[in-house]
Amino acid sequence: MAAAAAVAELIPYTSAHTKTAHHFSSEFSYASTRISGHRRLRLRPIQNSRIRCSVTSNEVEAPAAVKLGELKKKADCYGVFCLTYDLKAEEETKSWKKMVNIAVSGAAGMISNHLLFKLASGEVLGPDQPIALKLLGSERSLQALEGVAMELEDSLFPLLREVSIGIDPYEVFQDADWALLIGAKPRGPGMERAELLDINGQIFVEQGKALNAVASRNVKVIVVGNPCNTNALICLKNAPDIPAKNFHALTRLDENRAKCQLALKAGVFYDQVSNMTIWGNHSTTQVPDFLNARINGVPVKEVIKDTKWLQEEFTQVVQTRGGVLIKKWGRSSAASTAVSIVDAMRSLVTPTPEGDWFSSGVYTAGNPYGIADDIVFSMPCRSNGDGDYELVKDVEFDDYLWNRIKKTEAELLAEKKCVAHLTGEGIAVCDLPGDTMLPGEM
Ligand code: LMR
Repeated sequence: MAAAAAVAELIPYTSAHTKTAHHFSSEFSYASTRISGHRRLRLRPIQNSRIRCSVTSNEVEAPAAVKLGELKKKADCYGVFCLTYDLKAEEETKSWKKMVNIAVSGAAGMISNHLLFKLASGEVLGPDQPIALKLLGSERSLQALEGVAMELEDSLFPLLREVSIGIDPYEVFQDADWALLIGAKPRGPGMERAELLDINGQIFVEQGKALNAVASRNVKVIVVGNPCNTNALICLKNAPDIPAKNFHALTRLDENRAKCQLALKAGVFYDQVSNMTIWGNHSTTQVPDFLNARINGVPVKEVIKDTKWLQEEFTQVVQTRGGVLIKKWGRSSAASTAVSIVDAMRSLVTPTPEGDWFSSGVYTAGNPYGIADDIVFSMPCRSNGDGDYELVKDVEFDDYLWNRIKKTEAELLAEKKCVAHLTGEGIAVCDLPGDTMLPGEM
């Protein structure tokens, strides 16, 4: 999701970013020197992983195993967050919960710039939840990442107890309780979708392996970088020691967009719209489900009687909203994506209101709907607030809804075949339906 905004750390920086660290202060230059001595984020293809595929059937070979090396190093603490005052003693005087470690990739990008300050303010996990932010960038974004850390320092957030920055996921993801994986590469001019899947997929292979090696065993992972469903699948396949159920692909922005459009049509405030499911892929095949959604507790179809509008205009507006927004802004959605990440996190740590649900792209390992297993598919979920979720059972299907679901399922199954070399499932065969795109690609 929101790939173009998310990837500031993977694209070349302008002259402002080419200054050396000593332009800031000796403390910053020390941090930079140490960081640049660390192992680098490896964006090069994994050994033996060759792409030989195009949109028509071609094949890619499986990668050899990657050696993990020394894993227990810590990412660099930053500035004021490196001071050695007795945090623990101080926390004992407050009725605070145990600190939560939140790792964020693409941390120097636009989405993160909105997200990090929400996390640090306490509006996401609550006013009694101290947090540590672990920020992952790339060599190119290191200066910008220091800028982010400086702004976090200057904000004096009481709940923000630690900030560390780094470019090695094996260091940055250490003990992470949450991993918000935002960084990904946008599709470049002339780049085929299969190529994008491969390039971004390799980032998520490494990040999956790193999470598997060093994160909390119950880390919750939200994948935002596009194509987020298949990136989440790659990530979870490379993290076999973490429950697959803990991985999510962000479709909450699509849910929020759908609620807004229904409210607009019905002439109600958007908080009246509930039970909104986005089925399937975060792409133009996604299915915003108006059959099961409700307005003021009443089925949408009883409030909005214009079925043609629901099937055609509403559905298409939601599917393509990201692309339309890019045309207006000149970049991907960033603030609304950050808000939807916050919504997605809150949905997992707060009991879902009675009778309602939320959408998330989750791993299909037996589901009540008959959707193919072993993909990451957006479905209706409920949580009791413990970070886990269950699928909602009582949803209706009609032919229109089911046919659309089958189309988005077919797309995800095709994407999965394209990345078999990254999920440890052998030879990749890439034959993607030509008429579907990421929301931002139109
Ligand atoms: C969005 O839905 O806004 C983004 O995923 C669009 C994009 O491709 O960056």
